Amino acid sequence: MILAELKTHTEHLHRRVEGAVDLLRRTRDAESYAGLLGRLYGFYRPFEDRLAAMRALDGLGLDLPARRKTPMLMADLAFLGRGPDEVEALPRCDFLPRPATTAGAIGCLYVMEGATLGGQFVRKHVQKALGLSGPGLAFYASYGADTGRMWASFREAAEAAVAPGDLGDALAFAAATFEAFEAWVGPGEPAAPMAGAAAGPSAETGGRS
Ligand code: HEM
Repeated sequence: MILAELKTHTEHLHRRVEGAVDLLRRTRDAESYAGLLGRLYGFYRPFEDRLAAMRALDGLGLDLPARRKTPMLMADLAFLGRGPDEVEALPRCDFLPRPATTAGAIGCLYVMEGATLGGQFVRKHVQKALGLSGPGLAFYASYGADTGRMWASFREAAEAAVAPGDLGDALAFAAATFEAFEAWVGPGEPAAPMAGAAAGPSAETGGRS
């Protein structure tokens, strides 16, 4: 069971990213929340572009276009008053993992798809903290009522795509994704412009074959 292994081996990293998101501080007011969403945009946009370009993910039934969170982040940022030019100009993470194999890419996707599960809890918190009801919550609402179905179909595709011998690659890239996320979104996040980011976390090299 690839997914069970991914969960067990990354639980400690999940706890770290929960801390890095620092939800209470980031939902103090609409400006703080927009800052968080902008940071997420800077992570998801280049990562989704990179994974969409990977031919190693073709034919697995993942339906990556339907899984893109970038449009949801753009919608939320627009609702919070950020124009398209401003969003386009946001700094983007330049130390993302670079998977070269199907298993490695599945490790990355595990982190991004799994985040939609916790997102359901985060959505309720943001809704209450900022009094939002619908607009502004697209990213954390994610697939909405389809969240369980989308997760189940990801699990099924991932189990079929990763041979037991490639588990190490999947684990390494899941860990590298969590680490890159933590470094990008955490309290010590590199300031814009991204001076010195290339010398940052281990994610750029982490687990790369
Ligand atoms: C404040 C922030 C977060 C909270 C409160 C949270 C909470 C949760 C909860 C409750 C689950 C289990 C949901 C379920 O089984 O239905 C979960 C799953 C998961 N979350 Fe988070 N999460 C947060 C942030 C994140 C972030 C930022 C990432 C990725 C960068 C992430 C990645 C995952 C993954 C991969 C799983 C699936 C674990 C598995 O079952 O294999 N989470 N989260």
